[in-house]
Amino acid sequence: MSSNFVKGLEGLVVAQTALSRVEGQMGRLTYRGYAIHDLARQATFEEIAYLFWQGELPTRAQLDDLKMQLAHARMVPPNVMQLARQLPKEADPSDALRTLVSALGAGKPLQKPDLSEAMMLTAQVPVLLAAFHRARTGAEFIPPRGDLDHTANYLYMLSGEMPTPAQSKALNVYLILLADHGLNASTFAARVIASTLTDLYACITGALGALKGPLHGGAPSRVIEMIEKIGTKENADAWMREAFARKERLMGFGHRMYKAEDPRAEILRELARETADPALFDLAFNVEATALRLLHESKPAERIYTNVEFYSAVILHSVGLPKDMFTPTFAVSRMVGYTAHILEQLADNRIMRPDAEYIGPAPRVVKKIEDR
Ligand code: COA
Repeated sequence: MSSNFVKGLEGLVVAQTALSRVEGQMGRLTYRGYAIHDLARQATFEEIAYLFWQGELPTRAQLDDLKMQLAHARMVPPNVMQLARQLPKEADPSDALRTLVSALGAGKPLQKPDLSEAMMLTAQVPVLLAAFHRARTGAEFIPPRGDLDHTANYLYMLSGEMPTPAQSKALNVYLILLADHGLNASTFAARVIASTLTDLYACITGALGALKGPLHGGAPSRVIEMIEKIGTKENADAWMREAFARKERLMGFGHRMYKAEDPRAEILRELARETADPALFDLAFNVEATALRLLHESKPAERIYTNVEFYSAVILHSVGLPKDMFTPTFAVSRMVGYTAHILEQLADNRIMRPDAEYIGPAPRVVKKIEDR
């Protein structure tokens, strides 16, 4: 029997969205019609959040109001703060965040996700991460500061020091660029879960589980590890050829959708050129050039380019984040996309229930246990 099975669901349209548009052949990404380049240059993360949640960019008054609401929503319940302190110090922060988001939902009655809950959870994710990170390093928790915006407050809570304007700018651009990206694996997971009419915490817990995989949001820490292992630009060619021989993938390259350069990679490369340590940027730039040359040599038909994760890693390293905080910091940004997709799904919901082509044995008879 033939079926329409498509491995990896490639090219299948399983939802409609008015949020972001990925035009992979042209290397174009827009949020509600606005080009990502313009938004990265002219907007803040909070403006992007408003755009996704409300449909339009905010006026000054609307933005001030949203910032105030997010700042007020940062108060995490004491039992969840206590759990953040009790988790094993060696836990991966992505796992800690997933557990703490799930804990936030425990004990709450089943409630249909709404915008105020979406804002609250978005505001609390950086607090949860900072609480866990401070506890695992034996440092005191630093309460959020209501006068700081989402980006600066996150960096401040992690280190206890005010970020420089350059650090805040770099992380703000990163958070804008990662906020949404069509039906990527974790957003798809969030929409599938939402379609069952469960609560927001269940949807986000599932999405975070999908995000941490190395083929998705787990790539950037591995990018920095790769750059560190390569060590010098002269070593890049030999190191990568050995990686190919071991059948390893080069992290930070390739994308299901983009068959041209990922526009986010281009913006992050220029940002890294401006803000990263020049020696690190130079090494990363040379590693990238070698990787592209070898990938095009070995897979000429695939059109593999740099993806968003390569220079994300350089930026996140430059603003002082430890490697294992890269993926959960991706989640700080993607919370906006997840919640907007969940609300969009629920506005016109039908439970997601695809089919599987059965390829197991033909019907057969159950034998008694002594006859098997
Ligand atoms: N390094 C080496 N080879 C790669 C590669 C990479 N980064 N990305 C793709 N390829 C190769 C695959 O090995 C495959 O070749 P094969 O058919 O001979 O095995 C071919 O290109 C097609 O790859 P495929 O896995 O079918 O593409 P996809 O659309 O399913 O995968 C990714 C997209 C992102 C999962 C893939 O490019 C990848 O694994 N990248 C590295 C991880 C990463 O950076 N993830 C972050 C994504 S934003």
